[in-house]
Amino acid sequence: MTDSYQAALARSAAIEQRLDDDPGSLRMLTGDRPTGALHIGHYFGSIQNRVKLQQSGAEIWQLIADYQVITDRDMLGDIQGSVRNLTIDNIAAGLDPDRATIFTHSAVPALNQLLLPFLSLVSVAELQRNPTVKDEAKSAGITSIGGLLLTYPVHQAADILFCKADVVPVGRDQLPHLEQTRVVARRFNERYGATFPEPDALLSDAPLILGLDGTKMSKSKGNVIELRMTADETAKKLKGAKTDSDRVITYDPAARPEVANLLLLISLCEGVAPEQVADEIGDGGGGTLKKRLADAINTELAPLRARRLELEQDTSYVSDILRRGNERAGEVAERTLDEVRERMGMVYT
Ligand code: TRP
Repeated sequence: MTDSYQAALARSAAIEQRLDDDPGSLRMLTGDRPTGALHIGHYFGSIQNRVKLQQSGAEIWQLIADYQVITDRDMLGDIQGSVRNLTIDNIAAGLDPDRATIFTHSAVPALNQLLLPFLSLVSVAELQRNPTVKDEAKSAGITSIGGLLLTYPVHQAADILFCKADVVPVGRDQLPHLEQTRVVARRFNERYGATFPEPDALLSDAPLILGLDGTKMSKSKGNVIELRMTADETAKKLKGAKTDSDRVITYDPAARPEVANLLLLISLCEGVAPEQVADEIGDGGGGTLKKRLADAINTELAPLRARRLELEQDTSYVSDILRRGNERAGEVAERTLDEVRERMGMVYT
């Protein structure tokens, strides 16, 4: 374990403590790229966490990071549909638009403008070292890294700092970006005077969930259960999940990763230990395992899916939420940008 990971874990634990003691004092921001439908990996990994933070009284900022879509691909795809779906998924899962600000990059000019002074604080060598950017370039098969892919971690610093968020719930892959954000805040403060807090990551304790074929979950591999699927689609998709030839079901993540992954999902839905689920299924085999998982997921997601269907019908309500969110984010970003201009002495009238 690296020193910086250790340090991030310790800070994450300190934030957990503050969440227990004084949740109302915390401002949370997180973001998703609108590249497609959210799936159960997002649900157990981060969405549940957001809703929990909201319920505990923290202030919630939920970014739909539309400019980040074109970091590792040329085309935006059906960006309108993806943005709407992401908004709907978040609300259906329990984010309350009256308490959470849901907004998109492209509608908040003052947020984007923060990128300019922030870029002046960062070296190209530092950007080129970011391991997450390197991984993304590699998995997208990119040989020549574009300007936005190289610099988006600094743009992400603007995402987090424009509203002076102090807690950012993320997975481990996002830690380099959080570290970059802390560096940008620190350097800005040193150069121009105390302006930004140094935000902390809140690392999810959700276990890593694999795709239905036992490899990394990825929409392009078709190995995910999307939140918006119907109960029948879910059951059908699960029938194709990979298991192994041993009929007796046991929970053994090292030797039987695919079976263990399905047991883990049942455990997350039902709140029962995976070992116990395995015992209960016993020699029922893969068929019983998949059937039980389909029922568990369909039960867990039923309220969310019902709410989703309602929201899909209510086009103007969803637009209204985004309009209000963008307006609110715009006001706060303007205020921060004014403060930044003042600190930099860029006030002429
Ligand atoms: N980079 C994040 C991802 O790929 C999305 C994101 C954009 C984000 N801006 C953010 C996450 C700000 C946390 C905070 O998932």
